Amino acid sequence: MKKIRLKNKQIDYPILIGSNIYKDIGLICKKYLEKNRVFIVCDNVVYDLYKKVLQNSFKKANVECIFIAITVSEKKKNIITVASLSSKIISHGVDRKDTIVAFGGGILGDIVGFTASIILRGLNYIQIPTTLLSQVDSSVGGKTGVNNIYGKNLLGSFYQPRLVVIDTNVLKTLPRRELLAGYAEIIKYGIIKDAKFFDWLQINGKKVIDGNTNARIYAIHRSCINKSQIVEADEKEHGARALLNLGHTFGHAIESLNNYKKDIIHGEAVSIGITIAAKLSYVEGYIDKKTYYKIENHFNDIGLQISLPKNLKKITAKKFVSEMIKDKKTVNKEITLILIEKLGKAFIHKKYSHSKLLKLFKEITS
Ligand code: GLY
Repeated sequence: MKKIRLKNKQIDYPILIGSNIYKDIGLICKKYLEKNRVFIVCDNVVYDLYKKVLQNSFKKANVECIFIAITVSEKKKNIITVASLSSKIISHGVDRKDTIVAFGGGILGDIVGFTASIILRGLNYIQIPTTLLSQVDSSVGGKTGVNNIYGKNLLGSFYQPRLVVIDTNVLKTLPRRELLAGYAEIIKYGIIKDAKFFDWLQINGKKVIDGNTNARIYAIHRSCINKSQIVEADEKEHGARALLNLGHTFGHAIESLNNYKKDIIHGEAVSIGITIAAKLSYVEGYIDKKTYYKIENHFNDIGLQISLPKNLKKITAKKFVSEMIKDKKTVNKEITLILIEKLGKAFIHKKYSHSKLLKLFKEITS
């Protein structure tokens, strides 16, 4: 099993990465519990698949587990779900020594992390991410939160887990579409800070998608190392952490304008968003044509979507820009974008011109 330690003055917790480790999950988690009880919040899909193995494993470790299965979707990622989940947890007579386990994908992890951060002013929680996207991005670094009618993830907290446990075996039951969506976040690390990793992905990316365990462990490990380094340097996103948002300001606008319908899931919107950011970086003269095509071709080779779907092409450029203004990085209506300086280096572009964005959207919509 591989271990990364995310550590700075305020934070210190391990990220464990392995294959076929759920059978030992009870003992793995026990070291991080303050009493022998956990609340396992999972989404209904993984609940049916993994309840037995988790139950047996916690039983073996002599830890009581209370399962709470919920249905999650971007539409249900809201404060109402947080309220009802909190009530379910509190109704069991929760106390400050209890631990909440988030067992599921990124949406579930964000909801559960946020809920854990507010019950009794903060309970310990453990992330066990079950999708590629949550394994390489959302389970690490303590961003928790839910959507609001005005935009994505507008309510939330920075609240670090006690432990993250990643089992690549769970990816065997993950639909290919979800794998691809997660892969978009993996490429992101190559583009923003790890050019060698990008080169590795060009050669090995298909193996990651097709199920090669070693390739998956390598890609997840390297992604989590990259993410940990950024979070260690800037937990609350005062600077460098914003680089992790490459493509996300576009992506979030796409998801929101699509009313969070499931025909575009988060990683797909991010995939389109990253390629738009790459295009803009090229148009602005920050990267050359060769680099731009190297990025775009890799998205294409892997089978990721890079252009806006038909229904969104009908949306006006003005609407896109208004939607992007709702981004959390916006200050005084001025849009911040993450652009690419070279492969392996991104930068924060503050006050990006609205008229340039309008022009760009006029080109990519019809
Ligand atoms: N997913 C971006 C971040 O954690 O900062």
